[in-house]
Amino acid sequence: MDILKTKADMQAWSARKKKQGKTISFVPTMGYLHKGHVSLLDIGKPLGDELVLSIFVNPTQFGPNEDLDAYPSNIQNDLNLAQQAGVTAVFLPDKTEMYGPGYQTHVSLDLLPQYLCGRSRPVHFGGVATVVTKLFNIVMPDVAVFGKKDFQQLAIIRQMVKDLDFNIKIIGGEIIREKDGLAMSSRNAYLTPAQRASAVCLSQAIQLLKQKVAQGVRSVPDLAREAKALILSFDQTRVDYIELCDPKTLEPVETVQAETLVAMAVQVGKSRLIDNAVIKTA
Ligand code: PAF
Repeated sequence: MDILKTKADMQAWSARKKKQGKTISFVPTMGYLHKGHVSLLDIGKPLGDELVLSIFVNPTQFGPNEDLDAYPSNIQNDLNLAQQAGVTAVFLPDKTEMYGPGYQTHVSLDLLPQYLCGRSRPVHFGGVATVVTKLFNIVMPDVAVFGKKDFQQLAIIRQMVKDLDFNIKIIGGEIIREKDGLAMSSRNAYLTPAQRASAVCLSQAIQLLKQKVAQGVRSVPDLAREAKALILSFDQTRVDYIELCDPKTLEPVETVQAETLVAMAVQVGKSRLIDNAVIKTA
């Protein structure tokens, strides 16, 4: 497994592989890998001759009062997991390598970032779109895999790839959950035992919504009210948003559609957790 720390080395590595006729599959991450990331590597592995993992805690996707400085890291463990998953190269740049002095270019989208997490994280998706554009130009993958836990991020990447004509196939990996339903996330590491117990509220709220929709409830305000009450019945929880929306445009809906995205962000103690599911009525 090769470890490349500069853009020039990574680009040269990918160019060499492409010259040999090899295809490149790519999983971008911010490190502190868990089973969710490993599942993305497992999806990516058979999709290319080479499997590249990037680990970069991207400062431009964190707002001023967010957890950039606290973001967990364990590079040695990440490299061990990468090796086990059959990664052939790890791109591990530092901040100045990615954003040198005088850096001034940013990628932004008009509509998709206005919804869901974009409302309370106004700089987040611009930072994601910018760094993913850079990573695509550096790694030059044929296929890239992103988790569906960040549903809005995946929608934004798909839109960006279409709009900016990247010749890269985007694959979404299913959410991987703990036994009690909590979606895996590097941010779960911030939870105290009491908060960890409360963190099941998101997946339980999704289950409740699925049940209610199966029973025929279609009113989004009624559904959102019930989900919110369930979440607030757990200690140390604060709802950022619970929304039901169109899975393509992310526009909120008033009535449950044939396919409706339910997405939520909940502050549990200091951790802001997200979860989602697409509910089908048919
Ligand atoms: O999903 C993530 O871990 C990050 O947002 C990504 C895609 C690696 C960009 O920094």
